[in-house]
Amino acid sequence: MTTDSIESRLKEDRKFPPSDEFVKHARVSSHAAYTTMYQRSLESPEEFWREETQELVFRETWKTFATWELPKAQFFVGAKLNASESCLDRHLHTARRTKAAIIFEGEPGDTRTLTYFELHREVVRLTAALSDMGVKKGDRVAIYMGMVPEAAISMLACARLGATHSVVFGGFSAEALRDRINDLGAKVLLTQDGAWRRGSVVPLKKMADAAVEQAPTIEKVVVLRRIGEHLAPCAMKSGRDMWWEDALSNPPSDAALKLAKHPEAFDAEHPLFVLYTSGSTGKPKGVLHTTAGYLAGAHVTTKYVFDVKESDLYWCTADVGWVTGHSYITYGPLSCGATCLMYEGAPNFPDPGRFWNVIEKHGVTVLYTAPTAIRAFIRWGDEFPQKADLSSLRLLGSVGEPINPEAWTWYHKVIGGGRCPIVDTWWQTETGCIMLTTLPGACYSKPGATGLPLFGVDIEVVKDDNQPCAANEGGKLVIRKPWPSMARTLWGDDERWKTAYWTQMPGVYFTGDGARRDPDGYFWVVGRIDDVLNVAGHRIGTAEIESALVSHPMVAEAAAVGRPDELKGQALVVFVTLKSGHVADKTTKNKLAEHIDREIGKFARPDSIRFADALPKTRSGKIMRRLLKEIASGATSPQGDTSTLEDLGVLAKLRAGDSDEA
Ligand code: WTA
Repeated sequence: MTTDSIESRLKEDRKFPPSDEFVKHARVSSHAAYTTMYQRSLESPEEFWREETQELVFRETWKTFATWELPKAQFFVGAKLNASESCLDRHLHTARRTKAAIIFEGEPGDTRTLTYFELHREVVRLTAALSDMGVKKGDRVAIYMGMVPEAAISMLACARLGATHSVVFGGFSAEALRDRINDLGAKVLLTQDGAWRRGSVVPLKKMADAAVEQAPTIEKVVVLRRIGEHLAPCAMKSGRDMWWEDALSNPPSDAALKLAKHPEAFDAEHPLFVLYTSGSTGKPKGVLHTTAGYLAGAHVTTKYVFDVKESDLYWCTADVGWVTGHSYITYGPLSCGATCLMYEGAPNFPDPGRFWNVIEKHGVTVLYTAPTAIRAFIRWGDEFPQKADLSSLRLLGSVGEPINPEAWTWYHKVIGGGRCPIVDTWWQTETGCIMLTTLPGACYSKPGATGLPLFGVDIEVVKDDNQPCAANEGGKLVIRKPWPSMARTLWGDDERWKTAYWTQMPGVYFTGDGARRDPDGYFWVVGRIDDVLNVAGHRIGTAEIESALVSHPMVAEAAAVGRPDELKGQALVVFVTLKSGHVADKTTKNKLAEHIDREIGKFARPDSIRFADALPKTRSGKIMRRLLKEIASGATSPQGDTSTLEDLGVLAKLRAGDSDEA
């Protein structure tokens, strides 16, 4: 977030209540009603969740609602359910049977609609095929796909079998995919020939091949044909690779078909999925979510935050490879019986009006997107949204990073026509569902503030000694009590689950974010205060970038820091010391940028690579990132204490190299 936008958030005091028209139809339509529900969720959690999860088809109810011995917690203990049944089968006996579950818009403009009946049928077919491939309860399945309905179908088929899925964002490189598969020991990989992105093809299968080459646990690769042989040729390895259509058209065994049609119910705490995210070490964290608590959180928040109605067409623009795509494209909306729009490609293809054309074409009513996208739209010009009819929209959402009031105001006025409430939703991969927002019919919004806690969320801003901060005093954002959709651990690493989240502030969950709470009780999240950057809404660990860089034979040492950026919120700046004999020039920069593409993915490519003879270090040899951040942001002299710096001359040299952009 830029210094200007932090300033404007500090000065912001406008309040935007929902219109009478919105309130009239809202599920929760007054602040008092929200407060009553919130209080009840804290004081009588079991009653609250029993009522709110009634629709989720628990085949057996729980014996104990919640139990914890931190950092481990369990919810709905003893309950049995199948998440896929909660999202699909339960609708088949209602009018939703023939209602659209997913309306797909491909980047080339092709469209496809899957009703709940059809989505269920496709999920059953894939479940049977996976079962015949030997996938069973407890196995892990990796999903490396673009934004196509089959990505959701894959997740639901895994859930149906009790196999834990792990979706790897299609923007990750082969190396990143390989590491995730190996960490999980995944048995099957579901992928596609390629995905459309800004008119070109992302060769997913080709990258999957490179990954699987070094991922010995993968037995089968199932490949969806999205693009076709002429643009995305695939080398199919016999015995291992299989086309999706062939896998589904092979007649399933009776046992597999039976299991697919009448799925088993799993324990509430059965692992549903693992999603890797960045932390403050080089190794990504495999965040584990279990079945009942996660689904309950995704379901309840979708229902109340997006206020979904039968008549809505809800569009979340996030990628299924991130948690937002899990909770708010797949599990939340489908468990509510909503109709979701899924768009495959880039927001500016074939021109910057694409999002607005999609809204007009399909009649989208609820739009959930990210501040970085909103800032890009502002830059591209108002004429694009103004050309489209956006009158179907009734509610707007934002997620991923703090939204600056300028972007908020534009979103409200130009996209929402001044009539749509905006829900700014704060949450994390680890929280599973939205934790802070303003319920759209109940609470006014303040541009730049994320809002109030949702059900069961006991959240606070505290000082280093864990005492609550005064109103408007900045501190650390912590959650005091476990909540149903909280991650249960990190895959294979209980110790890191403890140290990363539960040790720094004893007894509470530390989010890694800094925040303040204003006198009205609204939370203003400032951003990460750990070594994690938020670049265009993507979480990137500085240590991940550094370890990727030092794995290059030319690099002796590297440090990655963030710099405020108008468009992306933060930009990634890296400082590199080369080993002797290598030249600090443009060619080397390109090589290092390509190396990051290969090791992590193009989305993590540094915005600027700077070479340095040495990095500023303390006498004990620690890199002084604070100074590098200042230099990256263009400060001309050190702002803070430099007395621990080993060699002051290093700083002068680094500054001299300021204009040296990648
Ligand atoms: C940031 C994405 C301010 C925050 C759902 C958090 C936000 C991290 C907001 C999680 C928001 C997300 N306002 N900051 N509305 N939403 N963040 O795991 O720093 O990809 O800790 O989950 O994004 O990112 P993640």
